[in-house]
Amino acid sequence: MKTPKTVFSEKIHLDGLLEAILSDKKLHARWLYTLSYLENCGAKKIARFQIIFKENVPLFVLQHASEEFRHTYFMKKQILKLGLDPDLDVPLLGGMKAKNLLNLLDVKILKLLKQEKVVEKEQLCYFAYLLTTFAIEKRAENLYNSYQEKLTQHNSKVSIKSIIKEEENHLEEMELKLKDYPILWNLRKKVVEIESGIFSQFLNGLFKEILPLNY
Ligand SMILES: [Fe+2]
Ligand SMILES: [Fe+2]
Repeated sequence: MKTPKTVFSEKIHLDGLLEAILSDKKLHARWLYTLSYLENCGAKKIARFQIIFKENVPLFVLQHASEEFRHTYFMKKQILKLGLDPDLDVPLLGGMKAKNLLNLLDVKILKLLKQEKVVEKEQLCYFAYLLTTFAIEKRAENLYNSYQEKLTQHNSKVSIKSIIKEEENHLEEMELKLKDYPILWNLRKKVVEIESGIFSQFLNGLFKEILPLNY
């Protein structure tokens, strides 16, 4: 479990990074490009996972998939507000750590569920979807609120307020779904801890990559 001290230092860490990112237009565009990429990974994951429902995909899953695809588009479109080309081929911030972020989380959550003796294929897939999404929405809540705070401080034309509202709804929905299954409800803290470990590594990578450019 995280201690309040590590949570506090992560906040300072993130604040410094966001300050550096927003102070450099090209870096800010790469940040938005990276967020768009991560949103797209999440959206594609939800799209692939729908196969377990065969013809009748639940409404909440369809809504979630469509909103995550919209976030992908929305993040990339914000690059226009910086006066830059959203389709320029720039490297992801965080490189391989960004590329593997979601897959790594998925693998660790599947392993955790197998340790908990969830083995039936469709149930494993559904449970992994719920837990992974829960952890991602928790991260989005924290990361996007910090980012929006910084955008407001900088009087930026970029705004992600409409995304934050939808991510809040996703998180509430995931909490309700987890409550339907005691095994998942009991694993929720563990899963957030796993995600925090992976995200901290990504953040550390960003820190090393960005800060020497700015200070
Ligand atoms: Fe999203
Ligand atoms: Fe979401």
